Amino acid sequence: MNPFHPENRGSWIDYDERYIWHPYTQMQLVPRSIGVERGEGAYLYLSDGRRVFDGISSWWVTLHGHAHPKIARAIAEQAAKLEQVIFAGFTHEPATRLAKKLVEISPDGLDKVFFSDNGSTAVEAAIKMAIQYWKLLGEDRTEILALDHAYHGDTFGAMSASARGYFTKPFEEFLFSVNRLPFPDPSEPESEIRFLEALRTAGKRNTIAAFVYEPLLLGAGGMLMWRPSILEEALNIAKEFGLLCIADEVLTGFGRTGTMFASDQANTKPDLMTLSKGITGGFLPMGITMASSKIFEAFLSNDRAKTFFHGHSYTGNPISAAAALASLDIFETESVFERIKSIETAHAKHAPVLAAKHNLKHRQIGTIAAFEPMDNTGYLSTKSLEWSKRALEMGLLIRPLGDTLYLLPPYASTPDDLAFAYEVFDAILT
Ligand SMILES: Cc1ncc(COP(=O)(O)O)c(C=O)c1O
Repeated sequence: MNPFHPENRGSWIDYDERYIWHPYTQMQLVPRSIGVERGEGAYLYLSDGRRVFDGISSWWVTLHGHAHPKIARAIAEQAAKLEQVIFAGFTHEPATRLAKKLVEISPDGLDKVFFSDNGSTAVEAAIKMAIQYWKLLGEDRTEILALDHAYHGDTFGAMSASARGYFTKPFEEFLFSVNRLPFPDPSEPESEIRFLEALRTAGKRNTIAAFVYEPLLLGAGGMLMWRPSILEEALNIAKEFGLLCIADEVLTGFGRTGTMFASDQANTKPDLMTLSKGITGGFLPMGITMASSKIFEAFLSNDRAKTFFHGHSYTGNPISAAAALASLDIFETESVFERIKSIETAHAKHAPVLAAKHNLKHRQIGTIAAFEPMDNTGYLSTKSLEWSKRALEMGLLIRPLGDTLYLLPPYASTPDDLAFAYEVFDAILT
């Protein structure tokens, strides 16, 4: 059937049900998607006319707010000038300016910028760089260390580094094995000690290529938070044994944890860092893997076989780079960190009240607050579907991780928006 033939023309929302296979969606249980017409600031406007507060920054990407005019304008201008060009042997102004800017604002020692197009590919590139680095040096270091509850993406390398669970189960025999470290839960000081000891024991083997971790916040693993001092100790141990440290800042980058990067909260810095999600302000796909000069230089050779053979068609896309530059410009020209602070303050005001009233565990880092019942039943909990539905009816978009409810709002959110979100949480939990 030709859907564009006048006789077959229905509403575009009907085409969704007929033609689209949505991510992370059991299509038999959720056949009907919710149409969105437009976005502005912290709000989405649905096809049925409702206005909804975007409590999760549309999967953690929308940074300043939806349809920020400065980013929209930069995209339009760049699209009219140079929309895409092969990035091997050729380059362009937006990518070069962005790379310079990222090196300036990122943790010390990250001197080179490698482009890809999403968070998973940024992680894939980082892991491949780490493995090839040791091969180039002629050292037999092939093992990867990662945290319990980690999530690094859905491609095979990123899945391998992620904790095993429903997402990875069908592919288990195809994933490379990874040494798991216990998660350093601040509410259980012994787990912090166990984590550091496990890292030290693994380091001593001299077979570890890299330690990949989400600094301070494990997002998809349940918005689990860990302490900057433990991060710093871990990096010190890893460096003592020569491990490459890969900070996956796909979620935490660009202010989410209260500092530009979560890695800024520890004095010891990573060797590789991945970025995506908020990098373009949440407008366009882009992945970044930043590397130290030491790693970059190990690949330099007259032997072309020693090249880093990795790339994607849209690597370094000029429109995405222009969006990223515009987003970074907003950090410089608008009071973004004041907005971040005001979101932090709103959480600090409402979160303990909500947690006490409903007997929840709660935690907060920067602009993110998370809550879970004392008896968390895991990712497939049906409570989360009910909560999301009721919240949406009241005008709030959320997507709990199992029984873990959280707020991760765009920076355009006001104290009133946050107060409203907490009222909705109170209602759905009552
Ligand atoms: C820490 C982290 N790394 C990697 C990814 C994968 O990013 P993407 O969904 O863009 O592939 C995510 C996505 O949620 C993430 O939170």
